[in-house]
Amino acid sequence: MDKVILESKNLNYIYPDGTHAIKDINFKINKKEKVAVMGQNGAGKSTLFLHLNGLIEPSSGSIEVCGEPIEYNKEKLLQIRQKVGIVFQNPNDQLFAPTVEEDVAFGPMNLGLKQKEVQKRTQEALKMVKMENYKKKAPYHLSGGQQKRVAIAGIIAMKPQIMILDEPTAGLDPQGIDEVLTIINQLHQEGMTIIISSHDVEIINEFAEKIIVLKDGKIIETGTPQEIFSNHELLKKAHLKPPKTAQILKILNKEGLKVNYNKTKIKECCEEILKAKINKN
Ligand SMILES: Nc1ncnc2c1ncn2[C@@H]1O[C@H](COP(=O)(O)OP(=O)(O)O)[C@@H](O)[C@H]1O
Ligand SMILES: [Mg+2]
Repeated sequence: MDKVILESKNLNYIYPDGTHAIKDINFKINKKEKVAVMGQNGAGKSTLFLHLNGLIEPSSGSIEVCGEPIEYNKEKLLQIRQKVGIVFQNPNDQLFAPTVEEDVAFGPMNLGLKQKEVQKRTQEALKMVKMENYKKKAPYHLSGGQQKRVAIAGIIAMKPQIMILDEPTAGLDPQGIDEVLTIINQLHQEGMTIIISSHDVEIINEFAEKIIVLKDGKIIETGTPQEIFSNHELLKKAHLKPPKTAQILKILNKEGLKVNYNKTKIKECCEEILKAKINKN
């Protein structure tokens, strides 16, 4: 069976004002992969994501979901949105119903599911994001972190195979970030393919299995966190800073401690330093 679940083929997108935001983008994402798209503001992350469930139609090229190119008619798009769910960066772009519960129910209801199934999915999704006690509240009365969790619940309730989250941790406090990452990791463990965007190298270093680096609408590199974050030249080019662990390893190396540059996860980095220290003594 083919492992590729999402593919971009020679994707280009030009906004009506002439901005060429996506330039010949090719990538393949495997089933159950945990992918991060990185790049500075304006690199094209959000524009790329809007293509992945057909919210915008490419100027040229195509997106394939489960081996089939997206077709831009109402019926086919509804099918695609069942497979690929997007959580927008700003919850205000997503939440609009008078109560949390109605908001989460909106997606599954639109899929034409029976009332009972809609209710079941809504309760399950709210439970998963730990918002079941807020279901009668108005979304605009919630904190940023709570709104984000409700927005995620709305997508969970549609049971997509692929979940796309545009800067899911931006603007949240440390606890809010942890809560969102815990939910995303749980979804991944349950078998979902996850794609997130971020310019936070610390979060992505610990989170992603694969990183796609965007710059000016182009992919400039794809690799594991270890490959990407030990490549200081590349990070500079993409206007990203190496994570603290990579910076520490670089300094220690300069100081003569033989440590492996590629160990950028906190745990691995600590092990590497301890090993080098023991070897030295
Ligand atoms: N609605 C729009 N009309 C014209 N240009 C846009 C629009 N939205 C975004 N852009 C431009 O497209 C490029 C990519 O933007 P975006 O996808 O938002 O990047 P990112 O999400 O990485 O910050 C930028 O140059 C941005 O100014
Ligand atoms: Mg964006």
